[in-house]
Amino acid sequence: MNILVVGSGGREHAIAGTLLRSPNVQQVFCAPGNGGTATMANCRNLDLAVDDFPAIAQAVQEYDISLVVVGPEVPLALGITDYLQANNVLVFGPVKAGAQIEASKSWAKDLMAEAGIPTAKSATFTDAEAAKAYIKQEGAPIVVKADSLAAGKGVIVAMNLESAIAAVDDLFNQGFNTLVIEDFLVGEEASVLALTDGQTIIPLLPAQDHKRIGEGDTGKNTGGMGAYAPAPLVTPEIMQRIQTEVLQPTIDAFNKRGIDYRGILYAGLIITPQGEPKVIEFNCRFGDPETQAVLPLLETPLEQLMLACAQQKLAEQPPLAWKPGIAICVVASSGGYPDAYEKGKAITGIESIREAMIFHAGTKLENSQLLTNGGRVLGITAIGDDFESAIAKVYSAVSAITFEGLYYRRDIGHRFKQ
Ligand code: AMP
Ligand code: GLY
Repeated sequence: MNILVVGSGGREHAIAGTLLRSPNVQQVFCAPGNGGTATMANCRNLDLAVDDFPAIAQAVQEYDISLVVVGPEVPLALGITDYLQANNVLVFGPVKAGAQIEASKSWAKDLMAEAGIPTAKSATFTDAEAAKAYIKQEGAPIVVKADSLAAGKGVIVAMNLESAIAAVDDLFNQGFNTLVIEDFLVGEEASVLALTDGQTIIPLLPAQDHKRIGEGDTGKNTGGMGAYAPAPLVTPEIMQRIQTEVLQPTIDAFNKRGIDYRGILYAGLIITPQGEPKVIEFNCRFGDPETQAVLPLLETPLEQLMLACAQQKLAEQPPLAWKPGIAICVVASSGGYPDAYEKGKAITGIESIREAMIFHAGTKLENSQLLTNGGRVLGITAIGDDFESAIAKVYSAVSAITFEGLYYRRDIGHRFKQ
């Protein structure tokens, strides 16, 4: 079968590569893809925008595509799945109504309250003065969030009242018209991505992301600077609680609202010191870079699982099969990211790497030369029998890569505890 992957990040490169490991998948198309998907065997980029639904539907016909897999949240929130389903196309990714779980934090909070899902206490505001009064009443630390999609830049964790109040003005001045303000949760973060067909929900291996740009989790938030899986922080007992207290109740709440949610449900969690999982956010898609750590360990053919989700047959699937060991992904970014950075720098050293997988994100191929083309440029993933061997392999691979301004965190996995 042929599959179309929508998106252009490291996540989409990892999805495309994993799909191509299955003998049932002949060809993967990426719309628009990147320098990595352009050079992978049996993979071809289509120069289509992720929100050009008619052109994507046409490509489905032209290239005999059996399944469309949607990577990023923006086309999902705009209704790509609804559009393609109306054209009788099988899609892995939720309908627009389901994508609200990521596209509106207040909508997600309402759903969690209704379903009794553990999360921080919160309130929603459209008025700056009311928001500030609430902050003064609650005290710091406190978290101020833009309600709508903000490409990872809409959350301010304020450790004092002044910065919380400044965050309110800042977000309203940026044009956001609704804010969610919530209690600060103490604990360790984990990402649990789960496959669902709208009835059955099956978690993938738990992962831990590294959202901040600086070592020791300092500095600005980014899309994610590295990840590893499985994260031992999420013990089997905690995973069981996540299944019964978070994942299944969310699917039940979707059904209660008449939403048929098929694809990935991503729970961003805080695990409290008492071992309780609490939701900090939901996403309606695979995480980036968590996917680049999780999928390399998956042995069950990915297209089989995605088809089962799209066709509502997930309950018939045998248990997921995983490779043993641990996978670690380190992101190599352009100097300056997540603020302004330069593009078009020549990337060298990739060809010599044998012990790690390279997932392209912000790259492009120009006259056979690979160039940087984004903030997060490459994700480098290595698998080891244990944490130490995976770390040694991944950093040895990263040190072979060069481009002007290359930056990466040297402490990915610093919170790993066996
Ligand atoms: P989000 O986009 O909602 O995942 O928030 C971005 C980051 O802000 C998260 O990964 C956390 O590190 C932090 N964060 C968000 N909400 C909270 C909270 N209620 N308590 C503590 N940290 C939070
Ligand atoms: N790595 C965080 C995200 O995908 O939203």
